Amino acid sequence: MSTEGPRWDAQVAVVGTGLVGTSIALAAVAAGARVLLYDVDPDRLAFAVDRAAGVPAPGLAALAAADLTVVAVPPERVGAAAVELLNAGTSVVTHVASVQHRPQGDVEASGADLARFCGGHPIAGRERSGPAHADPGLFRDRAWVVCPTTTTAAGTVAVVEALVAACGARPVRMGAAEHDALLARLSHAPQLVASALSASLVGLTGELAALAGSGMRDTTRIADSEPDLWAQIIESNREPVAAALQGAIAPLIGLADLLRADAPAADVDLAVRRLMEAGRAGRALLPGKHGRAPVQAAEVHVVVPDRPGALADLLRTIADRGVNLEDLRVEHAPGQPSGVAELVVAPASQQALVSALRAHGWSAVAGDVTAL
Ligand SMILES: NC(=O)c1ccc[n+]([C@@H]2O[C@H](COP(=O)([O-])OP(=O)(O)OC[C@H]3O[C@@H](n4cnc5c(N)ncnc54)[C@H](O)[C@@H]3O)[C@@H](O)[C@H]2O)c1
Repeated sequence: MSTEGPRWDAQVAVVGTGLVGTSIALAAVAAGARVLLYDVDPDRLAFAVDRAAGVPAPGLAALAAADLTVVAVPPERVGAAAVELLNAGTSVVTHVASVQHRPQGDVEASGADLARFCGGHPIAGRERSGPAHADPGLFRDRAWVVCPTTTTAAGTVAVVEALVAACGARPVRMGAAEHDALLARLSHAPQLVASALSASLVGLTGELAALAGSGMRDTTRIADSEPDLWAQIIESNREPVAAALQGAIAPLIGLADLLRADAPAADVDLAVRRLMEAGRAGRALLPGKHGRAPVQAAEVHVVVPDRPGALADLLRTIADRGVNLEDLRVEHAPGQPSGVAELVVAPASQQALVSALRAHGWSAVAGDVTAL
């Protein structure tokens, strides 16, 4: 499979042939690099080799020949692995861990050559681990944070950024501490908040939990993530995560206090509006689908009768109008004779689509226009 990125004539080594390591290896092979693979788990190594992600390295010493070695092991092992490789004479060592400050500190404390070390973190991934879920296109058009130390050589950064380009990603340079503080807000605290929100359901019967709407499902989508990996990430980024969690929950605690304090309705109204307006403002800052700039999207709500083929009929009517659907959700409460399809389209198509659907006998109304 081609990554459609630049050709890259390099010898690359990947230590850790799990989800991220094998994805990088596959992308590097597709870009023209020769890839050596190493993993402590022989089954994972063999699986990655069978996926044509590279050839197995006979041992860690063999990696010294590589122009660049990528450490893609669990976060708590990154520092030790990077130090071992640097001390064994490996030319340039990078890693891909979701935390940067701790591994960089481990390398600094060891006295290993920092000129050949440069951390990195591709902002792409999955909730599943292992080489079976690897994908050479995982990093395409995504940001990849590159964290040089103050003594990392310019040539080292250039090789790491060549890898980023070969994977089809966009390098974003940042200090390790800045990265960790930012990711605590963008990723680490959100993971914990999603887990806490889903955990609040425990104790409900399945029958009652089944009444949850799409709001609960959407806000807890990442709650199935891997606890092993996340325990390591959170433990390695203690203070920034604590600050981000406090920032996220402070308005909620304030609101709970107000609700319990018998405050006037106008005060509650104002507090809720402020929180929700701030929420909208924060969400508008987020990139849209696949990391692209946010686009405005308009909703159209349509009543869909509970009969076989109704949704297909609706989609055919939309297709006949030549309208491109950005998204589609169907709300269907148990026992109801109909559901509501929530269509997301370009704002310019919203009114025309509502009119066309009504003309075909559908009950349709225009909804909000939001950033997607
Ligand atoms: N999963 C994601 O979405 C994601 C996204 C961005 C970055 N990361 C980072 O990528 C790294 C790898 O995560 P993953 O999801 O690919 O995990 P994974 O469990 O799929 O793969 C990790 C691999 O490392 C191997 N390994 C462990 N210790 C080793 C050692 N000392 N030497 C050689 N191999 C060793 C394991 O056998 C395993 O195959 C982590 O540091 C993680 O923070 C993950």
